[in-house]
Amino acid sequence: MKTETQVIQLTENHEDNSGAVANGICPSTTFKREVDGSYQSGYVYTRHSNPNRALLEQALAKLEGGAQAFAFASGMAAISAVLQTLKSGDHILLPDDAYYSVQLLAKDVFSRWGLSHTVVDMTDIASVKAAIRPKTALIWLESPSNPQLKISDIKALSDLAQAHGALCAIDNTWCTPILQKPLDLGVDVVMYSTTKYFGGHSDCLGGAVILSESLDKKWSEALKNVQNLSGAVPAPFDCWLMVRGMKTLPLRLKQQSQNAAALAEFLNQHPKIQAVHYPGLPSHPQHTLAKSQMTGVFGAMLSVQVGENSDEAMAVIGRLQLFTAATSLGGVESLIEHRKSVEGNLSVTPDNLLRISVGIEHIDDLIADWTQALD
Ligand SMILES: Cc1ncc(COP(=O)(O)O)c(C=O)c1O
Repeated sequence: MKTETQVIQLTENHEDNSGAVANGICPSTTFKREVDGSYQSGYVYTRHSNPNRALLEQALAKLEGGAQAFAFASGMAAISAVLQTLKSGDHILLPDDAYYSVQLLAKDVFSRWGLSHTVVDMTDIASVKAAIRPKTALIWLESPSNPQLKISDIKALSDLAQAHGALCAIDNTWCTPILQKPLDLGVDVVMYSTTKYFGGHSDCLGGAVILSESLDKKWSEALKNVQNLSGAVPAPFDCWLMVRGMKTLPLRLKQQSQNAAALAEFLNQHPKIQAVHYPGLPSHPQHTLAKSQMTGVFGAMLSVQVGENSDEAMAVIGRLQLFTAATSLGGVESLIEHRKSVEGNLSVTPDNLLRISVGIEHIDDLIADWTQALD
């Protein structure tokens, strides 16, 4: 079955006998217990599980081709849950260019848990090898990376993790399983900020972790325990919104990626643009690798370097009319952000870099907007 059909099938609630075509919402926090102590529906309490969350988790696991999915209240809650399955004293490797808060989470929160970390250029396998320590328990990847769209060799890095007995996890938020299937490349754990493309409308916060079939059951038990006991679970309404978003995920991502590829090509030949970072461009340093591990569609995120400094780059944002200056990404509307000024002092992002999340607007309008903004 093709993905476009699969998402429709996976997001139908087969437990509902009402005949309703649209899914219902089950806001109940608690479920009836029988006199013999059993629960007819299998549901006990919404922090443990809920019909809306179960549907979302089953759909996420199937779409990814994983053994089990766990939904969280945000992408950061999902990342925290993965880190909470590690032991005090463990060491982790993080990418030098990645969603900025991951490094902050490791530095400001998990250092107190006894986790140490090393930041490394994941595009350089020799550096990754050199950074591995006897206690390295996790290699965290993000490809394409945020915001410089660096591509790391997912298969080589997951092999390296496996050879060392460490987990390999990836933040696949920018691709979703529609554009990249990390589990097929040997990754153990796939993580999402479902806030972005899964939701798709910038109106619902969420996160997810999906585990590979080949991973020892102890990890799913550990993660289930963290999900339940730490309790950073999404509300039923948010799960319902995510499931609704999933129905149009392939369609939106196709249009958004097509727009991004065309915008990247346009900006790449524009004399006022210094650099375009987009893995679909043949000039991208890891274009061949991106082609081999993505589906041949390169996503809807790109970054450009424009002007001599932050102020000049910010001035371009000020002249754009169809790109809203806002953080986040993956919604149907085009957004733009000067990353350096929202990241902190650990940031390695160039001063004149603007990150663009391309929406579903007509490409002619988006290009016309950039044309006037750069003139
Ligand atoms: C790639 C990536 N991962 C993780 C996150 C964190 O997700 P959330 O904001 O849902 O907690 C973000 C948020 O911008 C992100 O862009």
